[in-house]
Amino acid sequence: MRYFLVVLLMTSAAVWLVAGKRGDATRKPPIEIFDDMVRQVKFRPQQPNGFFANGRTSQGIVEGTVSRGSQYQDDAINTGILLGTTNFVDVIPVPVTASLMARGSQRFDISCRPCHGALGDGNGITKKFGMGVVANLHDPRIVQLADGEIFQTITHGKNLMSGYGANIAIEDRWAIVAYVRALQRTRLATKDDMPEEFRAMAQ
Ligand code: HEC
Repeated sequence: MRYFLVVLLMTSAAVWLVAGKRGDATRKPPIEIFDDMVRQVKFRPQQPNGFFANGRTSQGIVEGTVSRGSQYQDDAINTGILLGTTNFVDVIPVPVTASLMARGSQRFDISCRPCHGALGDGNGITKKFGMGVVANLHDPRIVQLADGEIFQTITHGKNLMSGYGANIAIEDRWAIVAYVRALQRTRLATKDDMPEEFRAMAQ
């Protein structure tokens, strides 16, 4: 026991001698046990740097490069909002073609179908795993949303739904909006929307 106390005392004294003095007000440089933590080898922005021919640490932008952010504009296509207003665009601001629709169908299947279901009625596979409150895209309120608002919902999410802006490219978001409109139309169509020759069959 005595030895233990002596050893404890000596170790405490040693630790105090080496570490305890750190941070005390003194004119001498402090003891630095791991000095590379305090003094890292690095260049600061305005420091001269012999490595580069121009002798600077901060280098300019390589000629001919365009930063990704600089191409972004706050226009209707990128935001779903009319420029300079807070209004959603009513109608998809890109041409709706057959290939856009096909793309939208495919992207919907990947990104939306798991929750909203193939028909958009909110009965996706996730329902089986306990996700009970997925919106039915045929809900009259959602049918009446502006196209830009659905675009916004895809981009930033809404209430319980998280945003997919980081995963779905802008053109693909509009393609999905077009497809959602087509899905809604399947339940809103009247007999007049059918080709003439089929109308009789739909009596
Ligand atoms: C992980 C599940 C999930 C995915 C994936 C998902 N949604 Fe949703 N979505 C929801 C839920 C849940 C709601 C209901 C949110 C609420 O009101 O709380 C919702 C609501 C909506 C609404 C209604 C918004 C409103 O104004 O009330 C729209 C439109 C919509 N989703 C479209 C989409 C589209 C398009 C995609 C594919 C890009 C998609 N969702 C992907 C779960 C999902």
